[in-house]
Amino acid sequence: MLWFTGGAGWYATAVGSVRTRIYLDHNATTPVDPAVIDAVADAMRAEFGNASSVHHFGQRAKARLDDARQDLATLIGAAPTEVVFTSGGTEADNLAIRGAAEALEPLGRRHLVTSSLEHEAVLTTMRALERRGWRVTRVAPDAQGVVHPEAIAEALTDDTALLSLMHGNNEIGTLQPVAACAALARARGILVHTDAVQTVGKVPVDVHALDVDLLSLSGHKIYGPKGVGALWIRRGTRLQSAMTGGKQERSRRAGTENVPAIVGLGVAARLAGARLETDAARQAVLRDSLEQAILARVPGTHVNGAGQPRVPNTTNIGFEGIEAESLLIALDLDGFAVSTGSACSSGTLEPSHVLKAMGLPLHETQNALRISLGRHTTPDDIAALADALPPIVARLRSLTDRRPA
Ligand SMILES: Cc1ncc(COP(=O)(O)O)c(C=O)c1O
Repeated sequence: MLWFTGGAGWYATAVGSVRTRIYLDHNATTPVDPAVIDAVADAMRAEFGNASSVHHFGQRAKARLDDARQDLATLIGAAPTEVVFTSGGTEADNLAIRGAAEALEPLGRRHLVTSSLEHEAVLTTMRALERRGWRVTRVAPDAQGVVHPEAIAEALTDDTALLSLMHGNNEIGTLQPVAACAALARARGILVHTDAVQTVGKVPVDVHALDVDLLSLSGHKIYGPKGVGALWIRRGTRLQSAMTGGKQERSRRAGTENVPAIVGLGVAARLAGARLETDAARQAVLRDSLEQAILARVPGTHVNGAGQPRVPNTTNIGFEGIEAESLLIALDLDGFAVSTGSACSSGTLEPSHVLKAMGLPLHETQNALRISLGRHTTPDDIAALADALPPIVARLRSLTDRRPA
C-alpha cells in the first residue's frame, strides 16, 4: 500500500512496519499538482465538447484550449498561435525533426545535425531518417557534457536542413549553449530545434532568447498530466505535418484535441511560471548540499558535469566499484526512488549513452546514479539519503570486494 503526498510518501512493508518513501526521480516524471488534477477533472466533466464544433459545447472547449495555449506561450515567451499541442515530448521531437526534414528535402537539404547527448526521442528519430537516406552528424560533447559551438559550426554544411540540440540534458542536467549554436545555424538558413523538456519550469526558457525555430516541451515533467506536451513553431517555419487528418492545431497536428489534458498542461505552466524562481533557488541549494554530503561521506565518488551550468534539480554521481543498477535497487528497498542514466534490459547493464559520449571509461558509464529533486523535496529528504548512502555503498563494495582506489 502506498500513500503518496508529493515528494515523500509512506508505505507499509511486507512485515507490516510503516516507512517513508522519498521520491527523487523528477526527471523521469513529476507528481501531478493538486490544482492540475482539479482542473483536469473539471474539464473532463464540464468540457466534453469537441473543440472543432461550431456550437456552444465546442466553443467552450475551444476557449479552454485557447486559455491553455496562452498560459503555455507566456511561460516560454511565445505567441499563443505558435503553440501546437502534442501527445508529449516524444511527439513534439518527432514533429520537429521529421517535419523539418521533409519540408526542406525538396530544396536539396538532406543533412541533419544533432548531438550525441540527446534523448532517445531525438536519437531514434534521427536514426529512422538516416535509414531513409538523410545524412546525420552527431556532435560529441566535451568531458563535462557540454557541446561546443565550434564543433557545431564544423558540422553544419550547405545542405543541412536542421540542427537539433537539447537545452538541458536529462541524465546529467548540463545546459547546452543553444543560443550560440542557433545563431551559427540560422545565419546559414538552417532550422534550429531544441528539446527543452528538461528545462521548462526549471530555468527561464524564452524562445526568442534561445533564437530557435522549434522547441519541445512535456506536461509530465512540470507537474502536469502525462500524454500531453507541445511544440512551439516560430511563425513562418516550413514544417510538414506528421499526423494526417483534420485541420486541428492550424493543420500542424491532426486529431481531436485532448481538452482535459491540455487544460491541465495550461495550469501546470501557469504554476511553473509563478514558482520558477523560488523552486529553482531552493532546489539548487538542496542539490548542492546533497553533492557535498555524498562527496564528503562516500569515498570514491564524483559528480558528472560538475562545474558546468546545470538545471538546478539534477545531479549525476559516479560511485567507483559499484554497478549503478545494484545501488538503485538497494536504495529502492530502503525507500529512495532514484534512477540510473542507463537502461537495464533483460539483465544486461547498458552503459549510459550520455556518459559514453562524454568519453568516460566503460566502468564509469555504468556506475552513475541520477538524483533529481522536485518541488516537494525537503532538507530532511536530502539528509536521509546522505545518511543512507554510505553504509549501502560500503556493503555493495564489500560484496564484490571492490574498493575505490
Ligand atoms: C530530454 C527529453 N526529451 C524528451 C522526452 C520525452 O518526453 P515524453 O515522455 O513527454 O514523451 C524526455 C522524457 O524523459 C526527455 O527527458
